[in-house]
Amino acid sequence: TRVDWDLDVAEKGGYPDFMLKEIHEQPRVIRDTLAGRLVGGALSIDELDLTVEELNLIDRVYVIACGTSYHAGLIAKNLIEGWARIPCEVEVASEFRYRNPIITPTTLVVAVSQSGETADTLAAIRDARVKGARVFGITNVLGSPVARESDGVIYTKANKEIAVASTKSFLGQVVSLTLLALLLAQVKGKLKTNQVRFLFRELADTAEQVERILSDTSAIKEAARACVDAKSALFVGRGMGSAIACEGALKLKEISYLHAEAYPAGEMKHGPIALIDEGFPVIAVATKSPVYDKVISNLQESRARGATVVAVATEGDEEIRKYADHVIYIPKVRDAFSAITASVPLQLFARAIAVERGCDVDQPRNLAKSVTVE
Ligand code: G6P
Repeated sequence: TRVDWDLDVAEKGGYPDFMLKEIHEQPRVIRDTLAGRLVGGALSIDELDLTVEELNLIDRVYVIACGTSYHAGLIAKNLIEGWARIPCEVEVASEFRYRNPIITPTTLVVAVSQSGETADTLAAIRDARVKGARVFGITNVLGSPVARESDGVIYTKANKEIAVASTKSFLGQVVSLTLLALLLAQVKGKLKTNQVRFLFRELADTAEQVERILSDTSAIKEAARACVDAKSALFVGRGMGSAIACEGALKLKEISYLHAEAYPAGEMKHGPIALIDEGFPVIAVATKSPVYDKVISNLQESRARGATVVAVATEGDEEIRKYADHVIYIPKVRDAFSAITASVPLQLFARAIAVERGCDVDQPRNLAKSVTVE
């Protein structure tokens, strides 16, 4: 009826589905997650419940999560090792809990979970605590089991996420983990307070950059139309781009049922290049980074074999048009923050393909929003 329809539209804020509404909320999520974190010019995460001395002793970090949250962990590894110089491993919770990881009292386990109730992630937390680790949770749900059972928690401030495939929660997780990496670097003396402050401001600027990406999505839609009939797609990147590609591929398979896999671009020669024939979609994270040139040569190899190349690239990079059939430009940010910007067009790309294929983007078949049983 008319009334139901109006209600539905109102709930979705005028968007055709929750996924699109939630994608558009991301600038706000970035701002809210960062609000109040810079106190008197220094970064503060009071909820961590560890003294500076205890934090300073941390010599190993495990990020434990499932699904999209695991991909936020892959991004965090780059930042924690890059800035704080602490060895960091990222592992899916269902693997971590059934092996015998090396845990000491100076190990920090970071559990990332939108719902805060994923069974495997909870079991991994419990196990890690028994073995003496300090556990820190990153979750979107106030008072959730992950929040209750951790030594401290950062809330991602995404607010309720309805679409099964995670978008705004993922961005909130990446921003929260970036804060944690900055804090660890600050405590370890690897970054000076003024450097942390400088990076924090740049991080805050990503809210506006994401707004810009959302203001014109025509190139994304065009790229999606070119891939809509594909049977399979390959997402590639290097460094940060490799982690971003993982989430891009997951989004596409979750909601469009198109087979998608992510590979570090440098590994293409060791297998996935065999898949490429005329029109095979290769989606590349090819933003300006220390490994940009390497990614470009992978694109040349893909194209030479007939691939339809879609590149997410940095604004102003005209050169890349030579190597890609479709270019999606995003604002220039430092490589450390590229996951925040580059993930957004990949979310929209996945959604556009799913919509074209007539899929229910909010409620994909066989998937649940939270997985509370093993
Ligand atoms: C399910 C959801 C995913 C989510 C994953 C982990 O598979 O469909 O969107 O990333 O669980 O959930 P969590 O709540 O622990 O982040």
